[in-house]
Amino acid sequence: MTAVRQEAISDFSIEQNWQDYTEEEHAIWRHLFQRQQRLLVGRACQEFLDGFGALGLAADGIPDFGRLSEVLDAATGWRLVAVPGLVPDDVFFAYLARRRFPSTCFIRRRDRLDYLQEPDVFHDICGHVPLLINPAFADYIQAYGEGGLKALGLGHLTRLARLYWYTVEFGLIATERGLRIYGSGILSSAGESVYCLDHPRPNRIRFDLRRVMRTCYRIDDFQQTYFVIDNFQQLFDATRPDFAPIYREIAALPDIDPDALISSDQKLEPTPFSSPLGRGQKNGPQFDRGPSLGRKRLEDVRQHHNQ
Ligand code: PHE
Ligand code: FE
Repeated sequence: MTAVRQEAISDFSIEQNWQDYTEEEHAIWRHLFQRQQRLLVGRACQEFLDGFGALGLAADGIPDFGRLSEVLDAATGWRLVAVPGLVPDDVFFAYLARRRFPSTCFIRRRDRLDYLQEPDVFHDICGHVPLLINPAFADYIQAYGEGGLKALGLGHLTRLARLYWYTVEFGLIATERGLRIYGSGILSSAGESVYCLDHPRPNRIRFDLRRVMRTCYRIDDFQQTYFVIDNFQQLFDATRPDFAPIYREIAALPDIDPDALISSDQKLEPTPFSSPLGRGQKNGPQFDRGPSLGRKRLEDVRQHHNQ
């Protein structure tokens, strides 16, 4: 076996082979892209929308990772690495720690537009990449990768994975104009980007690091609880301290169910869609059922490790 081949196996990277995408695959991208573009104005946070615009992501088709990497690299030093699907935790975190974002290449089938339990290229590129062009968020994800490698070594990955889940994938942010989305798992899902803000059912709770780390999550349905940050600085400040003593402290406390409330929780009310400050949907919210996208990454990898 050649050295090149071994390298390909150990880092899980593959070629995107952009020229091999079919017209149908590009058409699926266009459909998803246009649908999210309409939905996300007034729902996604401004940092995400800015990144979306700056990346030059277009409705014309699945982007070429090489071109996108040049834009990202020039802005924040991040690059994309094509991977076939979920990669083991250590590989995933090592990529993030080196400012490399592992992105899947395949796109969901047309009969599975709203039901997908693993990340595809639409989730990875349209959900995650726009925030990587934001300097502060770019640093946060790198720090997260370093923290992931550390948590693995300490045997506390479950708690760090919950933080990732409830922030990077499913986080909400409070703004002067109401709640907005910054979590990629929501931003790439038509159903959940409406549900998380407008539906009365889920809990929306003020972010608290220890509370998040104790909270289990569901991978097979919309979230039952969303954690709301006041601003990104709050998130960066809360995650900067050494987690080792926090992991130890939390290990002594019971886990919290995804839908449970505890006495210290501060609940926030959704912005009603009919209010002038709301999102102005004339016909009220529509909820496409089915889980959002990309939700299985960490969970799957853990199962894979335990086999
Ligand atoms: N501060 C965390 C630690 O010591 C690492 C981390 C940083 C985790 C940023 C998440 C986000 O483990
Ligand atoms: Fe994701």
